[in-house]
Amino acid sequence: MKSSKRRQFLMQSGILSAAAVIPSWQKKGFPPRSSNTQIPAILGGKSNTLLSNWVNWPIWDAEKDEKLLLEVMRSGVWSRAQMVKQFEKAWADTIGTSRCLTLVNGTQSLIVAINQAKLGPGDEILVTPYTFVASIQAILANGCIPVFVDVDPETFQMDSHKIEAKINRRTKAILPVHILGLPCDMLHIMEIAKKHQLLVIEDACQAPLAEINHQKVGSFGLAGCFSFQNSKNIAIGEGGAIVSNDEAYMDRCYSYHNLGFPYGVATGSISAGSVMQGSKVRFTEYQAAIGLAQLTRLEAQTQTRNERASYLSSMLKTIPGIQTYRLYPSVTRAAFHLFPFRYNPEEFKGLSRAHFLQALQAEGVPCSGGYTALNTQAFIKETFESKQFKKLYSKSELMYSSYMEQNQCPLNDQLCQEAVWFTQNLLLGSKEDMELIFHSIQKIHREAEAIKKKLQP
Ligand SMILES: Cc1ncc(COP(=O)(O)O)c(C=O)c1O
Repeated sequence: MKSSKRRQFLMQSGILSAAAVIPSWQKKGFPPRSSNTQIPAILGGKSNTLLSNWVNWPIWDAEKDEKLLLEVMRSGVWSRAQMVKQFEKAWADTIGTSRCLTLVNGTQSLIVAINQAKLGPGDEILVTPYTFVASIQAILANGCIPVFVDVDPETFQMDSHKIEAKINRRTKAILPVHILGLPCDMLHIMEIAKKHQLLVIEDACQAPLAEINHQKVGSFGLAGCFSFQNSKNIAIGEGGAIVSNDEAYMDRCYSYHNLGFPYGVATGSISAGSVMQGSKVRFTEYQAAIGLAQLTRLEAQTQTRNERASYLSSMLKTIPGIQTYRLYPSVTRAAFHLFPFRYNPEEFKGLSRAHFLQALQAEGVPCSGGYTALNTQAFIKETFESKQFKKLYSKSELMYSSYMEQNQCPLNDQLCQEAVWFTQNLLLGSKEDMELIFHSIQKIHREAEAIKKKLQP
């Protein structure tokens, strides 16, 4: 909905008053209870869907963005060449590292980054259980064992104070995941890594432009990995990158991603002679052209997401039973790939999270409950039972029941039950959109008893 039309609707429906310069949520007695918009949509009231015009994702500006892409398509040079190099230079400059290597996706970036850090069978890598499955698959793909460090539910991140208890002689690396685009407690993590001589590979797939003390995440450890998958803050459909300041390491990553040919060998070369085992996971020229277009918007979008997140958070905090994320004091900027909060049904008259989500969706606010616990999913057990792992590890090392015992993460289990997410594109909406979200939740809170009666008879 156009802003003027939306404003008119908001005023007519009593959601905005004439003196709307003062945020509506700060006004006492607002909004009038008699209005139909005060009845939750799930109970037959007016849905906020009418108002919602969430920014579609990904964004594509045909006029501005297609020139470069068409140039690539018409040139016939589609495999890795100059456009990819240009994007890699731009991404390295953006993150503040000397090097960047693009790859087919974030998962492969993690796999290659771990592989070329010389991590492999027998090595344990410390990781959060609150992440996308790819972080863990990348560890297992290299024959390493993921060791889970429970979360700090307030920040949704790995609790850095629980890391040292998990370190033993097999521990070789920490894989901090800046999950939801909120930075990990990197200063503390780097301190621990240094003390115990552990490698650090950051999974920054959800966190482009997030910062700690004005330093971009992804640039703290040996390597940082990014994803350009379609939902990500920089969307290319698929794509990923490794960044690092270690030149020799990046040469090896490059070589690995190009069938083991020596660093610098041009794409398409077949007779250069491979110097190492590798794979073929290269980015393309058209991905790079899309990436360069998306990159022009990333800074402004990140700014908007930060402003909207902080506004929305300040409102949601006033609703009992809603606890928004906490950022570590060193965080100077987050990426807000997702906007998370924790939902406490007790403050909503026992309305379950599933029914809260249903009621909020009925209001026209897209939302989800996020991740389910990773450390208990079938894939780890299946990997432990694989032929490869049985060759790499002893029976006792692969005793799944004792692994499970040692990798319990009760706080994460709880977090997975409590979390509610909004995707980043909602944060590209207006301040009024944030107020709509707030009012929708406020309405559900006020009418929680009636909603519960309807959905949980
Ligand atoms: C935290 C995290 N790690 C890794 C990945 C893998 O990235 P991709 O989907 O590009 O393979 C993703 C995204 O999907 C992610 O969110």
